[in-house]
Amino acid sequence: MEITILGIESSCDDTSAAVIRDGVLLSNVIASQAVHAQYGGVIPELASRAHGQNIVPVIDAALKEAGVTPAEIDGIAVTRGPGLLGSLLVGVSFAKGFSLAQDTPLMEVNHLQGHVLAHFVTRPGEEEAPKPKFPFLCLLVSGGNSQIVLVRDYLDMEIIGTTIDDAAGEAFDKCAKVMGLPYPGGPLIDRLARSEGADPHAFKFAKPSVPGFDYSFSGLKTSFLYFLRDRVADDPEFIEHHKTDLCASLQATIVDILMNKLVRAAKQYDITEIAVAGGVSANSGLREAIEAAGERYGWTTYIPPISLTTDNAAMIAITGYYKYLREEFADLSMAPAARAAEM
Ligand code: KG4
Repeated sequence: MEITILGIESSCDDTSAAVIRDGVLLSNVIASQAVHAQYGGVIPELASRAHGQNIVPVIDAALKEAGVTPAEIDGIAVTRGPGLLGSLLVGVSFAKGFSLAQDTPLMEVNHLQGHVLAHFVTRPGEEEAPKPKFPFLCLLVSGGNSQIVLVRDYLDMEIIGTTIDDAAGEAFDKCAKVMGLPYPGGPLIDRLARSEGADPHAFKFAKPSVPGFDYSFSGLKTSFLYFLRDRVADDPEFIEHHKTDLCASLQATIVDILMNKLVRAAKQYDITEIAVAGGVSANSGLREAIEAAGERYGWTTYIPPISLTTDNAAMIAITGYYKYLREEFADLSMAPAARAAEM
């Protein structure tokens, strides 16, 4: 029997809907919200309003692109959290209405679990592409999270390390802001770091010393800020003159911090199946470092296509698919959760 799942994602500033049939992606539509760029960060109230405007057209487009009608949907999966409460409410309310109207099961999805399971989305024509084998470690790095997740099965995951303050994406974005770059700064830092002649060893920044597999990035952000303040005091053109070296050095530091714990975790858990997920996994320095570590330590590495690394509903639909198979359904009293700990 074919199983067709509609997934909805509205946890931050992207409204997305996707249709998956037996794990194969039929559509993945994303409406990004340009409104936040002028403020240098996501404004929750504006995000909720934009989700409200986008949700129906985005779902309609996803169904049309997939060539399915609402009656052909076997189950609807929606991000319950973590994320912005007002934004989550838009997706959750729509999903409940759809479930009620179509008499289809509702599945609640943890956004972070979705990022990890993005590795199991099969794109048409790529049925043979290898998927991580259990157990594997997933480095989950996004604008809001930096975690090392031990994945024993589709729905059996343990967070063995997490950030105690800022996330890796936040470190990129906040340091970019200090340099006067527009939001989100991560992709721009990546591009500047790859400019010809950019030297990743030009500057040295503080690396945290945190026990276990936890991460910390707020110290790096602060030391970067003070470093620039002192240099700019002597030379107002300092940032402009050294932009590519600053970006390359900063990126190398963040990648180094992430890789150091990942390598130690892989050794301690004796795992060689290593995956990376979340928006920051688009970073070219991190991708190269994971591949290099893979060769050095005999890992099999899994790096998702960029379209599945940033927030998207395909990862929500695939998580919903595994929940559907196990009949892990939510009822209509399910409420969105801003924090993962509330789920
Ligand atoms: O997973 P994601 O799309 O959503 C949130 O967690 O909100 O991640 C977004 C984050 C942002 O911090 C963005 O700057 C970062 O991912 N990012 C990057 C790159 N592409 C996106 N950071 C570094 N290098 C990139 N190429």
